[in-house]
Amino acid sequence: MSKVKDMDLAEEGKKLLDWAVSNMPVLASIRERFKKEKPLSGIRVGVALHLEKKTGILLETLVAGGAEVSAASCNPLTTDDRIAAALADDINVFAWAGQNEDEYYDCLELVINSKPQITIDDGCDLIHLLHTKFSDQLNEVIGGCEETTTGIVRLNAMKNDGELKFPVMAVNNAHSKYLFDNRYGTGQSVIEGILNATNMLIAGKTAVVVGYGWCGRGIANRLKGLGAKVIVVESANENPGASSGYHRALEASYDGCWVMSLDEASPIGDIFITATGNKHVISGAHLGKMKDGAILANSGHFNHEIDLDSLDALSDSKETILTNVEKYYLKNGKHIVLLAEGRLVNLAQPTGQGHPIEIMDGSFAIQALCVEHLAKNGSNMAAGVYDVPIDIDNNVARIALESQGIMLDKLTVEQKQYRQNWKEGT
Ligand SMILES: NC(=O)c1ccc[n+]([C@@H]2O[C@H](COP(=O)([O-])OP(=O)(O)OC[C@H]3O[C@@H](n4cnc5c(N)ncnc54)[C@H](O)[C@@H]3O)[C@@H](O)[C@H]2O)c1
Repeated sequence: MSKVKDMDLAEEGKKLLDWAVSNMPVLASIRERFKKEKPLSGIRVGVALHLEKKTGILLETLVAGGAEVSAASCNPLTTDDRIAAALADDINVFAWAGQNEDEYYDCLELVINSKPQITIDDGCDLIHLLHTKFSDQLNEVIGGCEETTTGIVRLNAMKNDGELKFPVMAVNNAHSKYLFDNRYGTGQSVIEGILNATNMLIAGKTAVVVGYGWCGRGIANRLKGLGAKVIVVESANENPGASSGYHRALEASYDGCWVMSLDEASPIGDIFITATGNKHVISGAHLGKMKDGAILANSGHFNHEIDLDSLDALSDSKETILTNVEKYYLKNGKHIVLLAEGRLVNLAQPTGQGHPIEIMDGSFAIQALCVEHLAKNGSNMAAGVYDVPIDIDNNVARIALESQGIMLDKLTVEQKQYRQNWKEGT
């Protein structure tokens, strides 16, 4: 039995779902195959994802494959109530926008009460809850899928501590996901979120992007395109399995951004955007140095990136200007504007639409195929964090290209042989 804000919003939600699927050719083709083959027949899938229209198409695809789906949001602010209502008949949906912390966790628990055999997480909250409060259910779980960088970091930490008890597919790490979703998706949608909230001009502003990973690169490059002067802040970070903070800082410099410490950037920036997946990267000391009217936005998974307790402590009062736009009046006489309570600015409702539809077509195609992979193979996989099989990853990119009418050249026999021949150098 679903728990959503208002079932009268369902009609509007269904129109949005129709619009989304008409721009999701890869997932639509998987949905058609799932309808015929029913690869998920009778499998209970528990989901914690931002509940918006593209997610709706993923959930419908799982249902088409025969799954019984229960879903909550992975963030208290990011449910589109129209979509939650539109899905609530066929799926157990426990989500509404503007939840408090208790309501958020209650909804995750309702998903867990459906006894999921496969989980889909964005940030690892569902898997974390299963391993802590509901560990008696762990033996029923075949496996899980994780959507984002922060979730993969948490899963690897669980694995290293010997605490991860089932196999999890690192969907985020598929090329068809992070190359497009984290970079172009976040790049476009974070700017859209900031513009929707503030209606301000980007051109001429000094924008500070903290973190030059896949998301930060996308955001910085889109800001440059809109005429901002972009400063990048990086850290002396090893980033296991990826290029280090040193490389990323150098890359940002070669990409034409100013690179400096946040101490140096704090008094200069007009807009600050965090994209690190780390905690308190903007600290009280930085906040105290900022210009009057500086704008703060976060695009990292959790609302930990900006030290909100310090922002409160530095302020005399705060005023809500619009939904998701709060003005903090600092004791030093300046004011700072915080967007979306420091949560993901591109997804926070009422205006956050998240990533562009075509981008989520690729990401959620990977999710659907990984759920199918777990349904087939999960029982024989040991606990751990798994890369998405390369054939799944390549197929999703191939179908996306075909749907855009983009052709690739084929290697000739001579070229294939040449690439395998280490003797022929000249
Ligand atoms: N908003 C969205 O829709 C969306 C989409 C995808 C990912 N994410 C989230 O965004 C965050 C970043 O993801 P990513 O894929 O770009 O990760 P990433 O690991 O590729 O990049 C993070 C970067 O931040 C840097 N960093 C870490 N601590 C720092 C600090 N204190 N100061 C400066 N730089 C620091 C790291 O060196 C790294 O280069 C994660 O939390 C991820 O889950 C959000």
